[in-house]
Amino acid sequence: MKEQIESIRKELDELAAKDMAGAATSRELYELKMEYLGKTGKISALSKGMRDVSAEERPEMGKLVGQLRARAEELFDACEKTLKKRELSQKIASEKIDVTMPARFAETGSVHPVSLVKQELIDIFAGMGFDVFEGPEIERDYYNFQALNIPADHPARDMQDTFFITGEYLLRSQTSSGQIRVMEQKKPPIKVLSPGRVYRSDSDATHSPMFHQMEGLVVDKGITLNDLKGMLDEFARRMFTSETKTRLRPSYFPFTEPSVEVDLSCSACGGKGCRICKGTGWIEVLGAGVVNRRVLENCGIDPDEYTGFAFGMGLERIAMIKYGIGDIRLLFENDVRFLKQFKG
Ligand code: PHE
Repeated sequence: MKEQIESIRKELDELAAKDMAGAATSRELYELKMEYLGKTGKISALSKGMRDVSAEERPEMGKLVGQLRARAEELFDACEKTLKKRELSQKIASEKIDVTMPARFAETGSVHPVSLVKQELIDIFAGMGFDVFEGPEIERDYYNFQALNIPADHPARDMQDTFFITGEYLLRSQTSSGQIRVMEQKKPPIKVLSPGRVYRSDSDATHSPMFHQMEGLVVDKGITLNDLKGMLDEFARRMFTSETKTRLRPSYFPFTEPSVEVDLSCSACGGKGCRICKGTGWIEVLGAGVVNRRVLENCGIDPDEYTGFAFGMGLERIAMIKYGIGDIRLLFENDVRFLKQFKG
């Protein structure tokens, strides 16, 4: 018995000399502890063995086994404590957050130049009392053509190479269709702006099969071409520079009479002539005119009582002039390196 006690004590001394807490996991440490202090452990076996010890020896042996147990408990308790401390500090270290690290940079988007132009136009015209109306992109032949004084088979249809869906439905080729929809719903005085996508079978550096237009329509008593001119002067100054001038040239649209093409003095060269205005000093920006009386009649508005003007401009074209963009396709490729330049 004494030898057994002695050998277990030696084992415990060896364990104490090793850095148990440094090497073991808490699971391993627990198993080791059970090997000595568990119900079937070595020290418990000693206690059971006391039965066979003679009565004289028993008090001494009992004392020694008790000391051994105390020694083992002390050893494992200390180890457990160190191990817990070590595991905690490891956990803290692994979950450490470096608050001084620079934040991860999230790339933010920017408003597309066509949307910028659209919003700016709406701001300018809203300031002059215009409402905004948005019509459908899939439109009936009636609204896109017939009611605008462009009958079926009329050669004026060739001005806009149209995508037909059926004989009756098409992708609108102009926001002028919105003029009819507005005048059907509302009687004068009318002052609306109608932005939206339009479609034409056309594609090169200055034409895209889908592009955006902004339509304007004013109908009231005594409206003349002069009102159009005055309003466009204001628009030109606000959209470009205070020096920008407008010029009206005679043109033709079936739904306006007279019709005009509107040029702006080139804001890049101030009208002297440059690459952007192709040396002319002027840039064509929109079509306009006095609303044809047939169009008013088609919408149930008396052309002897009311007159009006209408205009339509391409938003991509305005953006290209304003930002000096040479190819319309840049506006549709959506290359972020291009779009980034319009931030802020
Ligand atoms: N809708 C015409 C076009 O797309 C422009 C326009 C609008 C002309 C309004 C006159 C009046 O070319």
